[in-house]
Amino acid sequence: MGIHQQNLGPVSVIGELNYLLDNGIRPINYAFAQPEGQPQRTGILQPTRVDIHNARLLASPATLDAQGFERVEQPSSVSNLEDEEQVRQRYYAESDALIRAHTGAVKTVIFDHTIRIDQPGREAAGLREPVRYVHNDQTERSAIRRVRDHLPAEEAEQRLLKRFAIINLWRPVGGPIFTTPLALCDARTLDPADFLPSDLVYRDKVGETFSLRANPNHRWYYYPQLRPEEALLLKIYDSRTDGVARAGAHTAFDDPTTPVDAPPRRSIELRALVFFAD
Ligand code: OGA
Ligand code: FE
Repeated sequence: MGIHQQNLGPVSVIGELNYLLDNGIRPINYAFAQPEGQPQRTGILQPTRVDIHNARLLASPATLDAQGFERVEQPSSVSNLEDEEQVRQRYYAESDALIRAHTGAVKTVIFDHTIRIDQPGREAAGLREPVRYVHNDQTERSAIRRVRDHLPAEEAEQRLLKRFAIINLWRPVGGPIFTTPLALCDARTLDPADFLPSDLVYRDKVGETFSLRANPNHRWYYYPQLRPEEALLLKIYDSRTDGVARAGAHTAFDDPTTPVDAPPRRSIELRALVFFAD
């Protein structure tokens, strides 16, 4: 037995995940709070109770290319991840190195980061809350568009001839996660037909994301009480077509085992274009 006598948490918990009802109408989600009277999203959510399994108990750890998510044990050297300056100056460089080391990629371009706090009403102040509906951040179309948006034209076309991926790095801020942990779907249990293209409307642009429809085959996982010294890598898109995870699905959920006095979740996620040599 190792020296870490850590309690790995329950075998599973039941969570209510918000899927989208598949009625053939393309849904619109708004990234920020809408003016009074306007809906935050169109489309009908279908809250569905599912078992969410403890990924810490897997006999062999989940990987980015099989399940589409992976836990890494690597603290950040950045003292305050809620400081925009420190994040851009240091956390981006550190995360670039982490992602390259864990994927074998030759280059990354980090194009976005978001701090979320589980504090109702934050969205109204232009700040971000956990996302409580099952989604994937990019479609193939928006993934390719991202490459062209963030690289010089000639380099973009060269990179698009090789393997590229979009990977999120998700990390607790300030302490372990007790409320609204992230649920991650085993990519091997996702059917291409479950992915429903959706508009994500920002103040200045419209992005294309996926909402997911319910499917009893989905197998869900979470990492109980994820610590700031750990981080999650999430596969959002992969151009490779030989059987690796090509897309994922995830959502925040209310963990029924959360103590009532638990501190609210704080997290940082960043999004990276990830380029390979071949
Ligand atoms: C993400 C994401 C939601 C959350 O990192 O892509 O959807 O609640 N996060 O942290
Ligand atoms: Fe997401």
